[in-house]
Amino acid sequence: MLAAAPAGRPRSILRSIISVSIAVSVPAPARYTLLARTFHWTIAVLMAGMFITMFLHQGAAENSPAALYWIKAHMSLGLLVFGLSLLRLLARQTPPEPLSRGIARLAAVGMQKLLLLVTLLLPVTGFLRVMTHGYAVSFFGYTIPSVTGNMPGVNAIFKVLHGGAMPLIVLTLIGLHIAAALFHHFVLKDATLKQMV
Ligand code: HEM
Ligand code: HEM
Repeated sequence: MLAAAPAGRPRSILRSIISVSIAVSVPAPARYTLLARTFHWTIAVLMAGMFITMFLHQGAAENSPAALYWIKAHMSLGLLVFGLSLLRLLARQTPPEPLSRGIARLAAVGMQKLLLLVTLLLPVTGFLRVMTHGYAVSFFGYTIPSVTGNMPGVNAIFKVLHGGAMPLIVLTLIGLHIAAALFHHFVLKDATLKQMV
């Protein structure tokens, strides 16, 4: 029976056994899906853009064309962050097999949920800060007129929520998130960062 089998067959079975065992012993690192990675890095770059546009706006002379240009850019990019974060939430991308367990995992997931909340809530508070001041919101050349008019009392609340200690809190959260990713990569030398690239 065996002699009747084609000459190449036993070798090809052997080869497939070897390749299967290699695949089992050296698994490819699980990564976030391409969609999840695209959302993550696009929003991360836009978040940097939010601080850069605000820095340039605040650095320009008051009411100058440059100040207006940068606040419009800030509003437009901020609303884009909101739209993308909403889509990211709706797309419900499940993370790959988690590498850390227990408290470390809890802290990482807690931080990620906080960051997601930040990318959803900050644009809303920014939008309402502009609206309740009686100003129009700009979105890449389109204008959304204020529906509330000037409401100084309410506006004062949004000035605190989208101002005050907010930049420091947000930058601290992002800083801790980046530091954790670098700690995993360079100190623990695990694949946490590789999952996201
Ligand atoms: C993720 C999105 C956003 C981030 C990270 C962000 C961040 C910031 C930061 C750091 C400041 C400076 C606050 C201060 O110095 O006290 C600021 C101010 C401001 N933001 Fe945003 N923002 C976002 C979205 C928006 C949106 C969507 C709008 C409006 C549609 C907006 C409108 C404003 C306004 C009007 C100010 C005050 C500008 C001024 O001081 O003249 N922001 N934002
Ligand atoms: C240089 C900057 C950044 C690096 C190196 C980085 C790295 C990472 C890594 C390695 C993960 C996967 C962690 C795990 O699975 O345990 C992750 C997830 C995540 N990061 Fe970042 N991150 C950066 C910036 C940001 C920024 C600016 C935000 C938002 C403000 C953000 C929000 C998130 C969220 C929400 C997740 C959960 C997974 C997802 O929904 O995509 N990251 N990040």
